Amino acid sequence: MKFNISKICCIGAGYVGGPTMAVIANKCPHINFNVVDINQERIDKWNSDELSELPIFEPGLPEIIKETRGKNLHFSTNVDEEISKADMIFISVNTPTKKKGKGAGQASDLKWIEASARRISKHAKSNAIIVEKSTLPVKTAQTIKEILGVPDRNESNKKFYVLSNPEFLAEGTAIKDLENPDRVLIGGEDESPISALVEIYLHWVNPEKIITTNLWSSELSKLIANAFLAQRISSINSISALCETTGADINEVALAIGADKRIGKYFLNAGPGFGGSCFKKDILNLIYICNHYGLSEVSSYWQKVIDINNWQMERISNLIVEKLFGTIAGKKIGILGFSFKENTNDTRESPAIKICKDLIEEGANLHIFDPKVELKQISKDLGLDNSFSEAAYSEDGQWYYSESVIEAANDADALVIVTNWDIFKNLDWQEISKVMRKPSCVFDTRSVVNKVELRKYGIKVWSLGIGV
Ligand code: NAD
Ligand code: UGA
Repeated sequence: MKFNISKICCIGAGYVGGPTMAVIANKCPHINFNVVDINQERIDKWNSDELSELPIFEPGLPEIIKETRGKNLHFSTNVDEEISKADMIFISVNTPTKKKGKGAGQASDLKWIEASARRISKHAKSNAIIVEKSTLPVKTAQTIKEILGVPDRNESNKKFYVLSNPEFLAEGTAIKDLENPDRVLIGGEDESPISALVEIYLHWVNPEKIITTNLWSSELSKLIANAFLAQRISSINSISALCETTGADINEVALAIGADKRIGKYFLNAGPGFGGSCFKKDILNLIYICNHYGLSEVSSYWQKVIDINNWQMERISNLIVEKLFGTIAGKKIGILGFSFKENTNDTRESPAIKICKDLIEEGANLHIFDPKVELKQISKDLGLDNSFSEAAYSEDGQWYYSESVIEAANDADALVIVTNWDIFKNLDWQEISKVMRKPSCVFDTRSVVNKVELRKYGIKVWSLGIGV
């Protein structure tokens, strides 16, 4: 059977659904794309006239939205209607870690996937191709097929095809990653629907980069890619602690080992621990699956990647207390960066959350500055209102939203660089040194500052993986 794809619906207008459909729409002007979501506020932001008000900050995204929105790309909450018109339906909904019930704390919560599958089953037209874009536990396609009545024809005589096409974009570089992917992975059982999806990607992706596999290899490869990436970060972070105690420099070590082609130079930047919505959730899911299949040695191996990550965040906050003479109660500490990485406003699992909570617990008055994260998001993440005025300092631990680096630094005992934003690489340390309280300290968890320069202005510097 030959598929003619002229209408695509994507369920879920989040960090994946929005940018992914925008890029595909830009590359395939002959196809009409409808991105639907149950979250009205999010959809309103996608439709906002002001491109700076898009729900996610992603370099290059406003330009693509400007070119495609209202032409062949549309955002709405008309979920059932758009499902009913589509030839191909991407499922791009969230799959967070389950909070309660069986598998709580490890398994992925598939309730949004199931809800999407049920709506598709009810409203989609016959022969629609259903594409799993969300990251899913291996074998999820089986559940989706069961809900959709595949392979048997269901009562209303519908027949659907299920493909797995996981997304590998990283936030902050999503547009570049989508436009020039390392690979596109498509898993499926039937040749024709696979070819229909391959054809879409062929509009801009080199055929050699398109890998087709069976459904289960595709689903599992996505989890494993994330697990391997996270494992590299935990490996280098574990060595950062060893460098600090031995006089080695983590950046020099990373350069030296990364020069070996078999190791490779990417993803070797030591830092405060990996954040983001996926690494932790996907490894937890992998652990759950391994335990389910009785592979406890395998699950313990991957558990260590998470343990080291938690330890890295904890050891940073402990070290800050220790270096600030054993107590930070009542002291002002500026936090530079709150998003989980640079070039995104996403704070999910950001190391900044744990580090800030620990410092607040110790009684610090935090002044948090991030170029893109909004005050209400920080409030939500810390579970604490930004309720104190500068005059009302206490030793109970509080936080305050700073509009600039200099405001965060004013009268502060210390600054902690948590996120790798470019602007932190070119700060005017001479000016900053004038407004900080003496002795002034900078804790650089991302190796961004020039230590010699800071020391020239009388600032003490501690760098992750180097120490002092
Ligand atoms: P997100 O939370 O930003 O977006 C998901 C959206 O789906 C939300 O807006 C939510 O309202 C919507 N939704 C949930 N149930 C719905 C339903 N039944 N009908 C309509 N809309 C519904 O999540 P995300 O970051 O875009 O991630 C989506 C998936 O992609 C996850 O499985 C994630 O693991 C995977 N992934 C994420 C990234 C990333 O960088 N964020 C990268 C690759 C893969
Ligand atoms: C990651 C993967 O890189 C994507 O391929 C994948 O699609 C995505 O997860 C997903 O499935 O959600 P993302 O989390 O957006 O992308 O960003 P990364 O660049 O991978 O960074 C993750 C975390 O690791 C960040 O906190 C970052 O600061 C940290 N990191 C990254 C380091 O500490 N050191 C590094 O060398 C690289």
